[in-house]
Amino acid sequence: MRTKYAVIFICVVALVIIEKESNILSRVSDKLIQRQIPQQTPKTPQNDNNTASKDYMDNKVDETGDINVKSSSGGRKHVLLMASTRTGSSFVGEFFNQHGETMFYLFEPLWHVERLLATAAEVNNSTALPGIYGDILQALFLCDFSPLEKFISPSPQNHVTPNLFRRESSLALCEEPVCTPVLKDVFERYHCKIRQCGPLNLTLASESCLSKQHHAIKAVRVRQLDTLQPLVEDPHLNVAVIQLVRDPRAILVSRMVAFPSKYQTWKTWAQDGQVPENDEEVKRLKGNCDQVRISAELGLSKPQWLKGRYMLVRYEDIARYPMQKAEEMYKFAGIPFSSRAREWILRNTQTTEEASGIYSTQKNSSEQAEKWRTSIPFTLVQVVQKVCGPAMKLFGYRFVDDEKTLSNRSISLLEDKQFS
Ligand SMILES: *[C@@H]1O[C@H](CO)[C@@H](O)[C@H](O)[C@H]1NC(C)=O
Ligand SMILES: *[C@@H]1O[C@H](CO)[C@@H](O)[C@H](O)[C@H]1NC(C)=O
Ligand SMILES: *[C@@H]1O[C@H](CO)[C@@H](O)[C@H](O)[C@H]1NC(C)=O
Ligand SMILES: *[C@@H]1O[C@H](CO)[C@@H](O)[C@H](O)[C@H]1NC(C)=O
Ligand SMILES: *[C@@H]1O[C@H](CO)[C@@H](O)[C@H](O)[C@H]1NC(C)=O
Ligand SMILES: *[C@@H]1O[C@H](CO)[C@@H](O)[C@H](O)[C@H]1NC(C)=O
Repeated sequence: MRTKYAVIFICVVALVIIEKESNILSRVSDKLIQRQIPQQTPKTPQNDNNTASKDYMDNKVDETGDINVKSSSGGRKHVLLMASTRTGSSFVGEFFNQHGETMFYLFEPLWHVERLLATAAEVNNSTALPGIYGDILQALFLCDFSPLEKFISPSPQNHVTPNLFRRESSLALCEEPVCTPVLKDVFERYHCKIRQCGPLNLTLASESCLSKQHHAIKAVRVRQLDTLQPLVEDPHLNVAVIQLVRDPRAILVSRMVAFPSKYQTWKTWAQDGQVPENDEEVKRLKGNCDQVRISAELGLSKPQWLKGRYMLVRYEDIARYPMQKAEEMYKFAGIPFSSRAREWILRNTQTTEEASGIYSTQKNSSEQAEKWRTSIPFTLVQVVQKVCGPAMKLFGYRFVDDEKTLSNRSISLLEDKQFS
């Protein structure tokens, strides 16, 4: 496993240096992956007898009371929250992060992989990355950090690093003993939300992971659902994929605000009122929408390998009914909904206790989710509707024909839709 990644990594770095301007990289590493990463054989980290799994193996009945015959994950559940940027995935990821002591949650571990390869690979056109992503997620769900370590820069020393991306976003990485107390004179300290921790010892992280009943990972970099088949079919895992989608018009607005320099072109178009439809930016938007739609179509078509393991959720529904949607996601994942998660959601959506009881529409978070409607010029809306039309239709986002409808928030742009 390690050697494999070392080889891939070295080849990639070498190619980066030699072929910086060419796109040979994606093709070559694609071949490398096909050749070197077996798609079938499940991989267990460290040794072949996953001790923690064994501990649970005897428990044929899991927490939900269901007989667990399907996999040898030992009643353990693995949730992959698959999204794209600006879909509210950090917020939704918290629903799982806040579950409590039995949850091991990771926030965007694939960031390291993308960052390292992005220097040369045409990430937005890459056929090489998906295989690597799926493989690293598979290892992480099995609590093996070594494939990911190869991509952390600078390289961890003795499996210790102060550089894990957004480590503080994972409660499990901020509790003792994974969080080692910081000495006063140690300069490199990490601000976890609850306490300050020293650099992260990945061996300890792995041990913590093995001791937790459930695992969840949020990832905005997995673009194609089909690349997850080996992960989903791994008999050592019990994977539930939750695909989170959002109105592409809202995503565009959010991205323009979050990444102003990257979206400069869109801002210029917004001012000019003209959008050249053949522009690369427009094509990229279309590409993103198509990928999300194709993945959703695959998931909703219920292929054998995904049966009972795929759920599609709209961010807008979560904004309207956070508690109900959280419960549904937990139920789907087969994890008991904890009071701790419930309390977190109450606090962070400003739902009142009474209101949450009947799952009433949450005014505030849904208002937040609708804000974009008054901050996007109609011209841009038209472009999004044109290139993302098929995705919008599939997800039930209503088209608008004029500026008045767009900005009138008493007109809903959301069709009531059940995906199952
Ligand atoms: C795993 O367990 C089996 C049976 O208990 C044993 O035969 C095998 O040697 C073990 N493998 C490792 C790598 O420990
Ligand atoms: C996408 O690809 C184009 C060339 O194909 C490149 O110029 C651009 O920087 C890439 N964008 C990202 C976000 O990687
Ligand atoms: C994108 O990938 C395809 C297939 O590998 C390739 O034919 C095409 O030239 C690539 N485009 C860019 C801009 O690199
Ligand atoms: C990291 O934790 C492991 C397991 O407790 C320990 O054996 C190792 O010495 C630690 N590494 C460092 C550099 O402290
Ligand atoms: C909605 O929530 C935000 C904080 O998220 C708060 O500032 C605002 O006052 C709330 N609005 C209403 C109408 O409750
Ligand atoms: C917004 O739409 C509602 C429902 O169609 C309508 O009654 C109302 O007059 C509209 N408001 C404005 C400001 O156009």
